[in-house]
Amino acid sequence: TTFLLLNGPNLNRLGLREPGVYGKVTLEQVEQRISMLADAEGIELVAKQSNHEGELIDAIHQAAQQQWDGIIFNPAAYTHTSYALRDAILSVDIPVIELHISNVHAREAFRHHSVISSVTIGQIVGFGVFGYELAFQAMIEHLKGEN
Ligand code: DQA
Repeated sequence: TTFLLLNGPNLNRLGLREPGVYGKVTLEQVEQRISMLADAEGIELVAKQSNHEGELIDAIHQAAQQQWDGIIFNPAAYTHTSYALRDAILSVDIPVIELHISNVHAREAFRHHSVISSVTIGQIVGFGVFGYELAFQAMIEHLKGEN
C-alpha cells in the first residue's frame, strides 16, 4: 500500500508563512510525522510539494501509473481556482482526501469554495497540521471499507 502526500503552492513555507494562520510546524516535520505513522502501518508514503500546477498534475498522473492507493492532497490556493487539478483527479481512479490546515470557511470569501472537493472522498478543514494525521487515518479506514 502506497499513499501520496501532495502539497501545493507556498506550503514549502509552512512554519514560516503566516504562522498565526498555519502554525509553526514545518512541512518537513509534517512529512516526517506522517512517514512515521505510515511505517507503523506498513504503508509506504511518498511526499511531494510543488509550487507549480503542472507538476501537481504530473504527480497525480504518476500516482496512477505507479498504482498507488490513495492521495492526501492540500492543493493550497489552487483549491479555489484549478479546474486542471480537478480534471487530473477525475483522470485517475485513486481516492483523494482534500485537506486544509486553516478553517477556510472562517476566512476570506474566495476561500469558501473548493473546485476540488466534489471529486474527492472527503475534506478535512481547520484542525491545523493535525489534519494530515486525520486524513491519513481516514484514508486507511476508507481503503478498509473498499477491500
Ligand atoms: C490552505 C488554504 C488555502 O486557502 C490557502 O491558499 C493555502 C493553504 C490551508 O491549508 O489552509 O495556501 O490550503
